Amino acid sequence: MRAFVVIGQKATASPEFLLHDVPGTSGRLDVLLRCVRAAMLYSHGLRRDTRVYLVLKGGPLAPRVLRIDGSAIRFVRPDERNLASLVKKALARACDAEGFNVIRPGLALAKGALDVVLDDVGPVTPFVLHEGATDVRDATLEVASALFFVGDHLGFDHETRAVIEGCNATPIGVGPVSVHADDAIAIVTNELDRREARIRATLGVW
Ligand SMILES: C[S@@+](CC[C@H](N)C(=O)[O-])C[C@H]1O[C@@H](n2cnc3c(N)ncnc32)[C@H](O)[C@@H]1O
Repeated sequence: MRAFVVIGQKATASPEFLLHDVPGTSGRLDVLLRCVRAAMLYSHGLRRDTRVYLVLKGGPLAPRVLRIDGSAIRFVRPDERNLASLVKKALARACDAEGFNVIRPGLALAKGALDVVLDDVGPVTPFVLHEGATDVRDATLEVASALFFVGDHLGFDHETRAVIEGCNATPIGVGPVSVHADDAIAIVTNELDRREARIRATLGVW
């Protein structure tokens, strides 16, 4: 399983944003929506081995976490408006029970921030995408069960940094330039795809 945890420092945890102006009304939830597309979708397909956690730290209902689980989700389309509509409907739901409240197959909402993610995710090797760190091409990656923390356009806040350090996440870089969060995810995903393909080729399994 691949998991991407995207931190939205200002991204709204409430449904009161406009579908025709997501960047201007949602605390830049659009940045996180592009991360969902990059992590979960490929050309004409959905990655069933991938889970994305959106940590929403903006607005009156924050913090909340939206979990999108590729093993069960259906009807995810690559256009941002469609993704925004999916998230808006999910955020309109209450999440009164402890932990993740399932909204529909593959989509769940929880109160809390990284604490609920770490309680939920199970055994994974944690990495943090960090500019200037060891290049992902040279890194030892746990291909079968890895979790990657990703910052939004503002990077990571202090509280989040402390939690990430507390779980001993290994910093990895994706090149010499600070790229958009969704591009960083696409690079990591591509590296994992390549490594998996090499493993399959070595084993003679396709
Ligand atoms: C647009 S960048 C954040 C820039 C922000 N101004 C900052 O100072 O952190 C969004 C996120 O993508 C990831 N990222 C971007 N470029 C990267 C790189 N070259 N190597 C590793 N991660 C990168 C990091 O997780 C970063 O927090």
